[in-house]
Amino acid sequence: MSTPEAVSSLTLDGEIAIVSINHPPVNALSTHVRAGILMRINEAVANDAAKAIVFICEGRTFLAGADITEFGKPPREPALRTVQDAIENSTKPVVAAIHGTSLGGGFEVALCCHYRVAVPSAKCGLPEVKLGLLPGAGGTQRLPRIVGPEKALEMVTSGQHVGAKAAHAMGLFDEIVPEGQLRESAIAFARRVLAENRPLRKVRDLDEKVQAARGNTALFADFRAKNARKFRGFEAPEANIKCIEAAVNMPFDDGLKRERELFMQLVSGVQSAAQRYVFFAERQVWKIPDVPESTPVVDVKKVGMVGAGTMGGGIAMNFANVGIPVTLVETRQEALDRGFQVIRRNYENTAKRGRITMDDVEKRMALLTPSLSLDDLADCDLVIEAVFENMDVKKTVFAKLDAIVKPGAILASNTSALNINEIATAVSKHDGIVGMHFFSPANVMRLLEVVRGDATSKSAIATAMAVGKKIGKIAALSGVCPGFIGNRILYARRLQADAMMLEGAMPWDIDDVIYEFGLPMGPYAMSDLAGLDIGWSKETTRHATVREALCEIDRRGQKTGAGYYDYDEKRNKKPSPVTEGIVREFMEKAGNTAREISKEEILERIVFAMINEGAKILDEGIAIRASDIDIVWINGYGWPVYRGGPMFYGDTVGLDTVVGKLKAYGSKMGADFTISPLLEKLAAEGKRFQDMK
Ligand code: 3HC
Ligand code: NAI
Repeated sequence: MSTPEAVSSLTLDGEIAIVSINHPPVNALSTHVRAGILMRINEAVANDAAKAIVFICEGRTFLAGADITEFGKPPREPALRTVQDAIENSTKPVVAAIHGTSLGGGFEVALCCHYRVAVPSAKCGLPEVKLGLLPGAGGTQRLPRIVGPEKALEMVTSGQHVGAKAAHAMGLFDEIVPEGQLRESAIAFARRVLAENRPLRKVRDLDEKVQAARGNTALFADFRAKNARKFRGFEAPEANIKCIEAAVNMPFDDGLKRERELFMQLVSGVQSAAQRYVFFAERQVWKIPDVPESTPVVDVKKVGMVGAGTMGGGIAMNFANVGIPVTLVETRQEALDRGFQVIRRNYENTAKRGRITMDDVEKRMALLTPSLSLDDLADCDLVIEAVFENMDVKKTVFAKLDAIVKPGAILASNTSALNINEIATAVSKHDGIVGMHFFSPANVMRLLEVVRGDATSKSAIATAMAVGKKIGKIAALSGVCPGFIGNRILYARRLQADAMMLEGAMPWDIDDVIYEFGLPMGPYAMSDLAGLDIGWSKETTRHATVREALCEIDRRGQKTGAGYYDYDEKRNKKPSPVTEGIVREFMEKAGNTAREISKEEILERIVFAMINEGAKILDEGIAIRASDIDIVWINGYGWPVYRGGPMFYGDTVGLDTVVGKLKAYGSKMGADFTISPLLEKLAAEGKRFQDMK
C-alpha cells in the first residue's frame, strides 16, 4: 500500500528544492500522489533554505494524468485543484522538469508551474477527449492563454500528444534541455530564474491571446462546421469547444467554473464510462492467461507473403512501414506486377497527403521483393498466406511451405472463414500454424484477429501478437469457429437485417438506423462497398436471395455503379426503385405482407442479436473476455467507441432487458435463433458481462 510519503520526496541541492514523485508505472495522479505533491510543495515553501522548486518525476514518465480508475468513485482529498493552487500560489518559483509524457491532469499540473523545461523526447497533451472527457483541472482555461484558441481547440478536441519541439515553439515549454540531463538542467534553469529575478509567472494571468479572440463567434462556428463529421455522435468534443469559448469570453475563474460543470456532466455520463472502459480493454486484450509474457517469441526479421492481391499487398505494407523486409510470392508475373503497382500507388497517395516523403516511398518499396517461387521464402521467420479463399488451394500452399521454410518459422493464414485446424493438417509442424486475420484495407485497419488452432503453439500465438503490436495493430485472440469473433457477429447481424428486409424494411431504412446509432455505415452500404459478388458466380446463381438477384442484373455494388443503392459519379448513394422492386418480389415469395417496422425494432433485433452471438462466442471460449469482442467490433467494424462495443452496450441497456426483448421478438428472430444460455444466466443473476471474471 503506497503512502504520500512513499511516493514523494523532497531534497535540497543548495538553494533549490527538488520535489520528486515516484509512482510506477506512469505516475498517475492517484490520491497518494496528490497528497504527496501537496505535502512536499508545502514543505519546500516553508523551508527557508529553499529559494526555488524543481518539480520532477522518476521512472519512465512525468505525471501521465489523473488516475483513470478513480473516476466514478467518491472523490478523495486532496483535490487536484488544491495541489495546483499550492503550486501556482507558491511564493517561490516552481519549475516543472518534464520527460516521457506529460498528459491530462499531469500537464495541467505542469501548467500551474511558473516555468517548464523538457527533454527533446518529452511529449505533452490533453488527451481527455479520448476518454470522453475534457481537461477538468484548468487545462481548457490555461492552454489557450499560451497557445491561443485555435491551437487549443485542435489540441483538446484531438487529444493528440505534442512533441517537445512543437511544444517549445508554441510556448508550452520554456526550454528544451539535453536528453538524459533533465534534473541538473532544471536545477540550473531554476538558478537562472533566481539570478535574473524572473517573476512568478502564472498562466492564468496571461490575457493577450484570449483577449484577441473575444467575441469572435465565427472562429468557433467554423471549427464546429469543419469537424462536424469527425465529431459525429461524440459528446466530449463539443464540451471541450464550449470550455475554450469560455476561456475566451469569461474571466478566468468563471471559465474554471464552467469547465468544472461540463467535466462533471461528462464524467458521470455513459459515453465517458464507455471510453474509459475501452482504454483498459485495449490494454487487456494483449493479455492471454495461459500465454505468459515470458513465452519465447520468434524474432521476426524477415517476412514471406504468399499472394499479392487485395490483402497480401496491404499486409506487406505494414511490415515495410516498420522496416521489416517482405518477399511477396505470386503464381504469375502479371499478378505480381499488379500487386506492386497497387502498393506503390497507395504509398504515393500517402506521400501526396504529406504523411510520408517520396524518399520514404522508395525506402519502403525497396524492402519489398517480388518472387514467383515459394523457395524464396526459405529464410523467412514468418510466412503469411493470403491466396484465394479455397481450402484446397490453401492446403497445397501450406504443404509446399512445410518443406521449404526453416525450422521454427511461423506459418500464418489470413483466411477469413476457413478452419485453421484443417489447414494445419497440410503441414508436419502443426504447432507453428496460426491465423492472422487482417481487415481490409489491411494497411489501414487497426484490427488483427490472431486465431488459435487446436495445435497452435504458445510461441506461435505470442509471436503473432508481438508482430501485431510491432506493426501498430491491435490484436485480439480468437478460437476457431466460422467467421471467428468479428465476422461471426457480422453474420448474426446480417441474418436479422435480411429477415427484416423481407418483412417490410428497405435496406436504406435498416442502414439509416445503424448509421444513426453511430457506425460509419449499415450492412447494405457495406455490402455495396465490399462488392455483392464476393462468393457469387454467374454459373451457380439461383436467384435465391435479393443479393443474388442484384448480382444477376450486374448490380454488384459501388464498383458497378449500383448495388442495393444507386450511385452517382461521385459515389453518392440513393435508394433504388430497382432494389425496392426486387425486395418486394422476394417479400411476396416469402408470403409476407409488408409492415411498418419501427426504428426501435430494427436497432434492437440487430444489436441484441449481435450481443447474443457475442455471449455464445464467450461461452464457447472463442473469445477470452467480453471486452476483447468489443475491441474487435470497434477496431474492425467501426462500432462507435462512445458506446463501448456491443457487449458493453448490452451491459448499459441491461442484460435482462436484452433477454426480455429477444424473447418478445420470438419467432421473428428466425427459426434457428436461440438465446445464449450464458446471456440468460447473467440476466437472471442481474449481472453484466463486465462482472465475469
Ligand atoms: N490512470 C490509471 N492507470 C493508467 C493511467 C492513468 N491515467 N495511464 C496508464 N495507466 C496504466 C495502464 O492501464 C497500464 O496498466 P497495466 O500495465 O495494468 O495494463 C499501465 O498504466 C501502463 O500503461 P500503458 O501500457 O499504456 O503504457 P505506455 O508506456 O504504453 O503508455 C501512457 C504510457 C502514454 C502514459 C499511456 O498509458 C496513456 O496514454 N495513459 C493515459 C493518459 C491520459 O489519458 N491521461 C489523462 C487522464 S484523464 C485526466 O487527467 C483528467 C483531468 O483533466 C482532470
Ligand atoms: P485476391 O484475389 O485479391 O488475392 C489473392 C491473390 O493470391 C491473387 O493475387 C492470386 O494471384 C494469388 N494466389 C492464388 N493462388 C496462389 C498461390 N498458390 N501462390 C501465390 N499466390 C497465389 O484475394 P484477397 O481479397 O486478397 O483475399 C486473400 C485472402 O484473404 C482470402 O483468404 C480472403 O478470405 C482473406 N481475406 C480477405 C479480406 C477482404 O476483404 N478481401 C479480408 C480478410 C481476409
